[in-house]
Amino acid sequence: MREAASAHHFQRAVVTGGAGFVGSHLCTALLDRGTEVICVDDFCTGTAGNVAHLAEHPGFSLLRADVSEPFEVGRPCDLVLHFASPASPADYLRLPLHTLDTGSLGTRNALALARRHGARFVLASTSEAYGDPQQHPQSERYWGNVNPVGPRSVYDEAKRFAEALTTAEAGARGTDTGIVRLFNTYGPRMRGYDGRAVPTFIRQALAGEPLTVTGDGRQTRSLAYIDDTVRGILAMAASDLLGPVNIGNPDEITMLDLARKIIDIAGSDAGIHFIERPTDDPAVRCPDITLARGKLQWEPRVPADEGLARTVRWFREHATA
Ligand SMILES: NC(=O)c1ccc[n+]([C@@H]2O[C@H](COP(=O)([O-])OP(=O)(O)OC[C@H]3O[C@@H](n4cnc5c(N)ncnc54)[C@H](O)[C@@H]3O)[C@@H](O)[C@H]2O)c1
Repeated sequence: MREAASAHHFQRAVVTGGAGFVGSHLCTALLDRGTEVICVDDFCTGTAGNVAHLAEHPGFSLLRADVSEPFEVGRPCDLVLHFASPASPADYLRLPLHTLDTGSLGTRNALALARRHGARFVLASTSEAYGDPQQHPQSERYWGNVNPVGPRSVYDEAKRFAEALTTAEAGARGTDTGIVRLFNTYGPRMRGYDGRAVPTFIRQALAGEPLTVTGDGRQTRSLAYIDDTVRGILAMAASDLLGPVNIGNPDEITMLDLARKIIDIAGSDAGIHFIERPTDDPAVRCPDITLARGKLQWEPRVPADEGLARTVRWFREHATA
């Protein structure tokens, strides 16, 4: 076993997709732990603004590159966190081929980078690998229920392929790899128009507009606050586990209850408006985190009320474009 997660120190990490929502928090957390960071991003969904607070940090550098093309970072690294990929349905439906290229060619190039440097590699996979699940909650042993030609397939299948590639790379070439399956994460720096439930509801509540709940609102999600997710990813990086390992918050909430909670926290009186549910939208989503608890000694700590309050505060203070 690698040493305990909190004690393991990396010298220099490459974070692909580091200018995105999750990636920018990872860059910050790594720098806080004394690890230098090279952020690689093509800004297709992220922005330099997400890492502007790191620009003056001596340990931080930003490289604009599309990871679907082979890339090098010019300096040694001992950790590659591969987080590049459009992630919200609005983004991957707008960028279907780019999403497939990033999951396939991008993962291949990021794995090659890790191999060349002898670095630990961690793939950001997703609960979407389970599709519209027929087992609940979802443990890593469940293989999923994915429509390979549905609108969401560009994302789901790209991630499933990326998992297969990562696993094959470890077996065939001995590269030190790990896979995290992230469940829905929320927090500061999400975009108000990225189509995901939390930022959409917060933007609407703060604008005094009705919150648009899809279907009858009884479909569930489990939402992890970004700080918890980042701790889980870094624990996986510091371990020698292959994974996949679920990282998510098992506290399940219906979309209707989430909307009501956000209305309450934001102090909105605009109410709820029901709209049509998207194709292949999963009915339930909840991680079984037994593996993460047992092997990474990780579990979420931030309750929904607190995480949502922090996120609403951030949205109040920042533009929600
Ligand atoms: N946010 C979540 O709830 C969640 C859940 C499951 C998995 N994930 C995974 O975590 C990762 C980050 O998600 P996010 O929510 O931060 O999304 P995001 O869109 O905010 O960030 C993705 C980043 O990747 C960059 N990118 C995309 N394609 C690229 C390419 N070919 N080359 C270089 N950069 C590229 C984008 O510009 C952006 O900065 C993704 O891999 C996503 O699949 C996120």
